[in-house]
Amino acid sequence: MSKDKNEWGSNLSFIFAMIGSAVGLGNIWRYPYVLYSNGGGAFYIPYIVAIFLMAIPFLILEYGVGYNFKSSFAKAVRKISPKWEFIGWFLPVSVFIIMIYYSAILGWDGIYVILSLFKGWGADPNAYFTTSLLQASDSYMGLTNFIPLIAVSMIVGWVIIWFISHRDLEKGLGRVSKILVPLLFIIMLIIVGFSLTLPGAYIGLSELFHPDWSLLYNFDIWMAAFGQIIFSLSLGMSIAFTYASYTRDDADLITNTISIAFANSLFENFSALGVFSILGYMSLQTSVPVADLVTQGTGLVFIAYPTVFNVLGNWAYILGPLFFFTVYLAGLTSILSTIEPLSFSIQNKFALSRKKTMSILIIVGAIISMIYATSFGSTILGYVDMFINQIAILFGVILECIVFAWIFKAEKLIDFLNSKSKTIKLGKWWLLIVKYILPTFVSIIWVGGMIDVLEGASVQQLIFTVIVCALLLGVTLLFTILPAKNLDWDDIKERT
Ligand code: PFF
Repeated sequence: MSKDKNEWGSNLSFIFAMIGSAVGLGNIWRYPYVLYSNGGGAFYIPYIVAIFLMAIPFLILEYGVGYNFKSSFAKAVRKISPKWEFIGWFLPVSVFIIMIYYSAILGWDGIYVILSLFKGWGADPNAYFTTSLLQASDSYMGLTNFIPLIAVSMIVGWVIIWFISHRDLEKGLGRVSKILVPLLFIIMLIIVGFSLTLPGAYIGLSELFHPDWSLLYNFDIWMAAFGQIIFSLSLGMSIAFTYASYTRDDADLITNTISIAFANSLFENFSALGVFSILGYMSLQTSVPVADLVTQGTGLVFIAYPTVFNVLGNWAYILGPLFFFTVYLAGLTSILSTIEPLSFSIQNKFALSRKKTMSILIIVGAIISMIYATSFGSTILGYVDMFINQIAILFGVILECIVFAWIFKAEKLIDFLNSKSKTIKLGKWWLLIVKYILPTFVSIIWVGGMIDVLEGASVQQLIFTVIVCALLLGVTLLFTILPAKNLDWDDIKERT
C-alpha cells in the first residue's frame, strides 16, 4: 500500500472536500427551520458564539492532531494511548452507520430528480411520498415489504459512490470535490436568486428574520445553536481528522478552518433565504400562514417543496429538477466523507489497499442499507438518526476533547500551528476552550439529547435503539480486538 494514494493533490482539494462534507442536508433542510424556530434574527447571537467558541477551536484541534499523525483515526488514537483504541474505532463505525442511512435519503432524492421533470408526485405530494413511494409503516412487520424502486435508486447511489471512492484520493474524491462543490454553490445561488423574486418572498423573509430577543435568555436556543453547528460542520466525527491527515506538509490549518466554517455558514444562510422566500410565496398563494407551512427534514424536501412546485406553474420544471439535483449533490459530497475514517483505519490496521477496502465497505454498506428499502425503513431511519446524532456523535466530541486535548496534550500543537498560520494565532484561550468550556457545554447538550430520546421514545424505538447501540459497540469491539496485519500498525512518525 503506497502512502501517496491517500494524499490530497493540493490544499484546494482538502478545502473543497471538507466543504463538501460539511454542506449537506443539514444546511438545506435543518438550518432554515432551526433558525426560524429559535428566535429568528436573535438566533444569530448563539449561532455566532457557537462558531467561534466551539466550531473553530474544535476543528483546529481535530485538524491539528490529524495532521500531526498523518495516519488514520484508529491508528492515531492507539498511538496516543493503546487502551483507548476502542474509541479510535467507535467514531469511524458511527460515521459509517450515518453513511448507510444517508444512502437511503440520497436514493429518495434521486427518484425526485426524475419525478420533478414531470411533477410525478401528483396533486397530493404528502400522500405520494408517505403512501405511494415509501409505503411507510411504523410496525416492524413492514420489514417484509420490499420496495424495488427505492432499492434500485439506492444502488445507483452506491455505484456512484464506489466509482469515486475506490480510486486514489486525489483522482477520485479530490477531483470530484473541486468540481461538485463549486457547482453546488452556483446552483444554490440560482435557486435563491429566483426565489427572492417570487411574489410573497418578503412575507417569508420577514417571518424568518423577525427577531425574538426574549428567547436569548432561553437555554434551549443555545443548545439548538451548538447542536446545529456540530451536525452541520460534521464535528467530532473523525472526518476532519482523517482529511487533515491526508494533507501535505505545508497546510495552514487555522486559515483553512476559518474558510471552511465561513463557507458552510454562507451556504446554510443562503439556503434559509431560499426556503423562506418560497414558503412566503406559498403563503401568499394559499393564505396559509408561514408558521403553518414551515417544516424540516424529509417533510420540507419531499412534501413542502413539491407542494410549492405544484402551484408554481411552468417555472417548476426548471426550479424543481435544479432543487432536487442540488440536494443530491449536497448529499453525495457529504456521504463521500462518511466512508473515509473507517476505510483509512482498516487500510492501516489490516494492510489492505484503498481500492479493496472501499469496495468491501461499499458492498457491505449497500447490503445493510436494503433495510431502508422496506416499508419500515423510514421509521428505522428516524430511530438511527436520532441515536447517532443526539447520542453517539456528541459523545464523540467529548471523547475527542479528552483524548486529543488532555491525553495527547493540545499545547503541543500551538507553536507548530501558529508558525503556519497567516491569520489567527492560538494562545491560552484556545486551550481553555478545548479543555474546559467545550467538553462541559457538549456534555450538557449530550445529557439534554439523551433525555429527549428517552422521554419521546416508544418501546419499539427503545428496542431498536438498543439493537443499533449493541451493533455499534460489537463491531467497534471486533475491529479493536482483531489482530493487526500491518507490521507498522504501532509505528507512527509525528509531524510536529
Ligand atoms: N454535515 C452534514 C450536513 O450538514 O448535512 C451532515 C453530515 C455529513 C453528517 C457527514 C455526518 C457526516 F458524517
